[in-house]
Amino acid sequence: MTATMPDRTVQTVMQGHATSDGAGVKLVRVFDPRQAQQLDPFLLFDEFRSEEASDYVAGFPPHPHRGFETVTYMVVGRMQHKDNHGNAGDLGPGGVQWMSAARGIVHEERPQQDHGLMWGYQLWVNLPAANKMDVPWYDDIAATRIPTVVLPGGGTVRVIAGAFGDVRGPVRPRPAEPTYLDVDLPANARCEIAIPAGHTALVHGVTGKFRIGADGASIASRQCALLSREGNVVITTGGEPGRVLVLAGKPFGEPIAHHGPFVMNSPAELRQAIDDFQNDRF
Ligand code: CO
Repeated sequence: MTATMPDRTVQTVMQGHATSDGAGVKLVRVFDPRQAQQLDPFLLFDEFRSEEASDYVAGFPPHPHRGFETVTYMVVGRMQHKDNHGNAGDLGPGGVQWMSAARGIVHEERPQQDHGLMWGYQLWVNLPAANKMDVPWYDDIAATRIPTVVLPGGGTVRVIAGAFGDVRGPVRPRPAEPTYLDVDLPANARCEIAIPAGHTALVHGVTGKFRIGADGASIASRQCALLSREGNVVITTGGEPGRVLVLAGKPFGEPIAHHGPFVMNSPAELRQAIDDFQNDRF
């Protein structure tokens, strides 16, 4: 086959909105489960970025999850994690925690700093019906385990999950076959990323400005572009640098029933999740 597939184009640009969660952590919710049908397999995406300790010190006291996975990427700062299965871990700068809540976990996340910049992202990735009641687990991935590819034209790609070229990220195979890349480009640079056909692809601005393809509209930090379903993702920068997160995954096409920290396939399964949580069966 020599036919070339056109590159992916921008379908929608999401802005996100300021909100708070946990014990009052201020954050920007880029999207939430109400948009999940369109963004399948992704459910929610938050950015927390503040130099004001009062915006984050309270952290996220113990709370449950069932039916999906949470992915926390720390850019700057430190967070400690504990759960009701006796696990504890430290999340440092450049590190990722991939937690599969599956049939149920109760955990807490607490900042390990009382001043300075705290900056990170939390993504919720759905699990298909067949895996929602699997045994929960998590993996604390230190920054040193995440490979960094240096691009020939300048810039870097950190491969958290999935692959960039023949470099694979440390996240074990998941049902959503996720891609999670941190792409940091200097001015006037280009990065082309192969994403499996049919996978939902998002590009979220971290800093600076970028375009999807050479002719796409300019997208700024804190904007998140949902792309078309086929072709490569081409990110270009103009007169200023741009850093983006590239997220992609296989849609499950299953019904989504959501209530707070539970994401199941039906209202009956949600009632069961609430009942199990209230009766200490997590
Ligand atoms: Co949580």
